[in-house]
Amino acid sequence: MKTALLLGGSGQIGQALLPRLVSDGWQVLAVSRRAAQMPQMPGVEWLQGSLQQMPTLPHPPEVIFSCGPLDAFSLWYAQNAQPAVRVIAFGSTSLKVKQDSTDAAEREMAARLAQAETRLIEACAGLTLLRPTLVYGSGMDKSLTRIVQLATRHGRFALPRTALGLRQPVHVEDLADAAMACLHHERSIGRSYDLPGGETLDYIDMVRRVLANIDPAPRLHLVPLPVFSALLWLARTSGKVNGFNNAMLARMQQDLVFDSQPAREDFGYAPRAFRP
Ligand SMILES: NC(=O)c1ccc[n+]([C@@H]2O[C@H](COP(=O)([O-])OP(=O)(O)OC[C@H]3O[C@@H](n4cnc5c(N)ncnc54)[C@H](OP(=O)(O)O)[C@@H]3O)[C@@H](O)[C@H]2O)c1
Repeated sequence: MKTALLLGGSGQIGQALLPRLVSDGWQVLAVSRRAAQMPQMPGVEWLQGSLQQMPTLPHPPEVIFSCGPLDAFSLWYAQNAQPAVRVIAFGSTSLKVKQDSTDAAEREMAARLAQAETRLIEACAGLTLLRPTLVYGSGMDKSLTRIVQLATRHGRFALPRTALGLRQPVHVEDLADAAMACLHHERSIGRSYDLPGGETLDYIDMVRRVLANIDPAPRLHLVPLPVFSALLWLARTSGKVNGFNNAMLARMQQDLVFDSQPAREDFGYAPRAFRP
């Protein structure tokens, strides 16, 4: 039986990929640091381990899917894996978006992603790199789901009126379909693809649609930017909002738009419109 190694199988993209691999006839070896807590399913063997401490694999895999941290994966792969193995690895459009961020930690992260891509491209002849935009659909993401949690808790949500930067949220199931399609389209070997969602909309519209799905729908307040900055400062100092930096605030006003055409042409990528 053909064997697939899945890294990040417990994450949002990995969980969507698992059943697709099984129904495509793959025996899946899924690595998790929390293997004992993972749901059992026929065709899937959970192995306890991490990219820093990989377990011994019972069979050599024909294909490796990386749905976890790309930098750790690239280091492990460059040192351990067979160059001939087919690899489908998820990176991120953050590589492009954050390379010139005003936030040093974000610039560092983008640089690590770029190094990881370069390392993998050098080490693997059978590589396809997939770079999603903002991922949603599993309830596990830290962007739209976080907005839902905050808005539900407070019954309202605020945004600056200037938050009109364009976004292309991508559904997790479309990403899993893309990874499977790459497996069956050799043209994707040796190539990298940006994977935006099927609809481009501005930040305010994106949040408005998210809030419309909550019952009762929280009120959305559109406020002048200085007012929003003051509210944000208050929320941060009182510990109500963590991890939201000024670079993120600036990005709400920037268009983060990517081209899906190469993926459409090479493996029939067809992401859905945004229906949160
Ligand atoms: N979320 C987004 O909006 C987004 C956007 C663009 C790109 N991406 C990229 O897409 C990929 C998947 O993202 P995701 O959101 O689906 O992931 P996720 O839900 O955050 O899950 C991360 C996965 O990585 C695994 N993992 C973390 N550290 C590990 C380590 N040291 N060794 C082995 N496994 C490790 C975790 O497994 P255990 O905890 O079970 O060990 C988990 O399955 C990542 O490369 C991410 O950067 C995500």
